[in-house]
Parts: sequence; C-alpha cells; structure tokens
Amino acid sequence: MLNKIIEIAKQAGEIAKDGFQSKFEIDYKSNSTDLVTEYDKKVEAVIINFIRKEFPTHSILAEESGQSEKSSEFRWVIDPIDGTTNFAHGLPIFSVSIGVQRNGKTIFGVVNDVMMETIYSAELGNGSYSNNTKLKVSSNYELKKSLLVTGFPYDLENYLPNISEKFSEFLLKSRAVRRLGSAAIDFCYIAAGVFDGYWEMNLHPWDMCAGKLIVEEAGGLVTNFSGKDIDIFSKEILATNGRIHSKMREILTS
Ligand code: IPD
Ligand code: CA
Ligand code: CA
Repeated sequence: MLNKIIEIAKQAGEIAKDGFQSKFEIDYKSNSTDLVTEYDKKVEAVIINFIRKEFPTHSILAEESGQSEKSSEFRWVIDPIDGTTNFAHGLPIFSVSIGVQRNGKTIFGVVNDVMMETIYSAELGNGSYSNNTKLKVSSNYELKKSLLVTGFPYDLENYLPNISEKFSEFLLKSRAVRRLGSAAIDFCYIAAGVFDGYWEMNLHPWDMCAGKLIVEEAGGLVTNFSGKDIDIFSKEILATNGRIHSKMREILTS
C-alpha cells in the first residue's frame, strides 16, 4: 500500500509542477488570505480518482472536497497542495501530503516535496525515509542552538497577540525562526534533523496527518503545547526532536 501512496503522490506532484508559475485561476475561501487555485482542485481530483479505482471502499478526508460518505476502517487524509500561497506566488516551497489511517490511527504518511524532488514517507513501526535514506531527528538539546519553524493560521487576527508574543520569545531564545509556508514540509524537516522544533496553532487534519507520523517514525515527538498526545484534529502542534520539547512547552504554556 505504501508504494501505491507514493505512486499517486508522485503523479500529483507532476501535475502541480506543470502548473507551477503558469497562469491559473485563484479563488478565495474563508477570507482574502485563504486561497485556492485551479491546481489544488485538479491535484485533489486526480488523487481521489486513484483511490476510488484502487481502494473503492476506503473513506477520504480531503481539503478541497471534505469528508466522503463511506465508512471504512481506512481513511485517506489529503492535502493536494500544502503551501498554496507559495504556489500562487511562484515560490517553490509546496508539497502534496497524503496520510492513511486505519481505525483512526495513522499507518502511512507520504509527503512529496515537489520542487526538491524528494518523497518523504513513513509506515507505522517501520521508520521514515526521504527517497531511500532513513531519517533521524537532530540530537540538539539547546534551544539557543536550535533552528525553529512555525506557521500562522489564515484567521490570524483571532489568535493575536498570543501568536506574536510566542514568536518574539522564540526569536530571542533560539538560533533562528523560519516560516516556510508548508506545514507538511515543516514536519519533514524536523524528521530529517534540519529543524529542531516546530509549533503552530489551528492546523487542519490534512496539514499534519502524514507529517506527524513521519516525525514520530524518525524518533521525534509530536504533542499539543501541554505535552499531551494528540490526534490529527488537534488545534495545537508542537513537533520536536524530543530533546528541546519541554523547553518549547514551557514557553508555549507560560
Ligand atoms: C497552510 C500551510 C501553512 C500553514 C497554514 C496551512 P495550505 O496550508 O501548511 O504552512 O501555516 O496553517 O493552512 O492552505 O497551503 O494548504
Ligand atoms: Ca495545508
Ligand atoms: Ca492545501
């Protein structure tokens, strides 16, 4: 099954790549910062058609078309283009993210970092890989030597000033903080040991389903800000190498 997920993530990535920097339609969703392009819809349709053909009984939760009617023990959780704002502006940081759950537990995760031509994948209990290289989180214990990443929700105004306060505090207490604009890639870079810690509020299940498993299978830790286990519907995400987790928690809960 993992090979099938990788196959469709690659096909989806090719379609997104063909559309990148071309002329396409852009619509707005919840507000004027929440975009959807013609390619988000196109890519999602191709993934869904593939699932319907290969796994007709499975249920689907996908960003642009929502939850399917079917009630199977298997559920595919899909973000066709994670990093739509980047994609729409011609910034080459976006991904295709596909997670598969069985009875509510994520068993496979695949993220196609399209422009880097890298497929991140994980199977529950079997480790995480980038293409064919096994991934391991960083071994850094010090916040001051950590490279952190975060992201911001589209309804940012509802979470201010808290978000900007935490952002400022991490800026001062870490080596640097980045904002890439694709949550799925943020998770993969934690798994690969590039970033040491990632936090964000108000993610959606499709932003985190695959990435969370990829981090965990690379030896990292993913919880809410209080350190509790979470499912893909959590509104708080803290993903780290495990070593700086409590230091980040302290700041996020203070
Ligand atoms: C967004 C990206 C971004 C994160 C936002 C997400 P989208 O997903 O993952 O990095 O900060 O919270 O909504 O809209 O590009 O699929
Ligand atoms: Ca997303
Ligand atoms: Ca998306």
